[in-house]
Amino acid sequence: MSDRILVTKSSMPPMSEYIEEIAPLWESHWLTNMGVEHKKLEAGLKQYLGIDNIALFTNGHNALECILEAMGLEGEVITTPFSFASTTHAIVRKGLTPVFADIRNDDYTIDPESIEKLITPRTCAIVPVHVYGNLCDVDAIQAIADKYGLKVIYDAAHAFGVKRGDISVATFGDASMFSFHATKVFNTIEGGAVAFKDSNLYPLLNQWKNFGIMGPEDVEYVGGNAKMNEFCAAMGVCNLRHLPQEIAKRKAVAERYWERLEGAKGVQVCRPGDGITSNYAYLPVVFEDEFGATRDDVFAALDVAGVGARKYFYPLISDYACYRSVYASERTPVAKWVSDRVLTLPMFADLALDDVDRICDVVLGCAR
Ligand SMILES: Cc1ncc(COP(=O)(O)O)c(C=O)c1O
Repeated sequence: MSDRILVTKSSMPPMSEYIEEIAPLWESHWLTNMGVEHKKLEAGLKQYLGIDNIALFTNGHNALECILEAMGLEGEVITTPFSFASTTHAIVRKGLTPVFADIRNDDYTIDPESIEKLITPRTCAIVPVHVYGNLCDVDAIQAIADKYGLKVIYDAAHAFGVKRGDISVATFGDASMFSFHATKVFNTIEGGAVAFKDSNLYPLLNQWKNFGIMGPEDVEYVGGNAKMNEFCAAMGVCNLRHLPQEIAKRKAVAERYWERLEGAKGVQVCRPGDGITSNYAYLPVVFEDEFGATRDDVFAALDVAGVGARKYFYPLISDYACYRSVYASERTPVAKWVSDRVLTLPMFADLALDDVDRICDVVLGCAR
């Protein structure tokens, strides 16, 4: 293999389209603080996601911190250790206590049965993750939330564009955070958003991302700064136009992987469930013991062959140095099992099917 294949490659619109989108900024000199592109992107996202309320942010992490704060939560939050650092960090940084539930062994999302066992009088919310874009068991989670009076805030960082039937992922729970980081299916270079049900939260979210400023002489709230700038918003406006084609190309890539890998002894791949429109965000593969080679063996073989893969998510968040003295990952055995065996393979819209074949040859060549 000549050129190294990276695990991901950011989607970009044609350069001329982006230049046309940002050219008016040289007239207006309005570069940030909720300008024309910001408004255009908010409107476009509401329409695409089929929702009434959305607020844009500098990144998904700030969006998650902000919605947790805006909801006025206190106490324990049940979440998953099988995620990116941001999910738990946001909970802790908002003064809340994370409690780790286990995950399911087929789609790696939080296990509703595990959630219910962890509820105490201090539990205030559930923060599940649609990990890899796999939709959580949203009905079971909502039933638990309703039974115990808990808020549900989805970390939907991976799930932009996912649907169940005609229903957008953004409509589940009380709120959903999306990441528009450069590596995501839909990107604004850096960026994020929160979609939410209660429209009363909109002014609060906007204050939080702009220092708590209400008016020129009126600061009511100890806010931060997390405003999406016009150049990032313009990238989102352009990328949104191309999203259906991007997802269709990813689908072709994912299907080629599944065709090649599914059925191989000890190889677990993860197809979308019935009625789900996937966004094909990631290509996780779990290597069970009967594969005969470990995840780390496959990772090393791919590296030698010039292919970047990621141990995503390893280690578990509960095993990070900043959490491991407080949490024991043995308490989430399924998450630990998956985390020790999972590898995400290269996945992006322009990945050539020949390259997918070559990657699969290396992977399958590791089997013993
Ligand atoms: C599951 C998950 N949550 C949160 C985030 C944070 O998003 P951002 O990088 O936009 O801050 C990410 C980013 O990769 C993520 O993967």
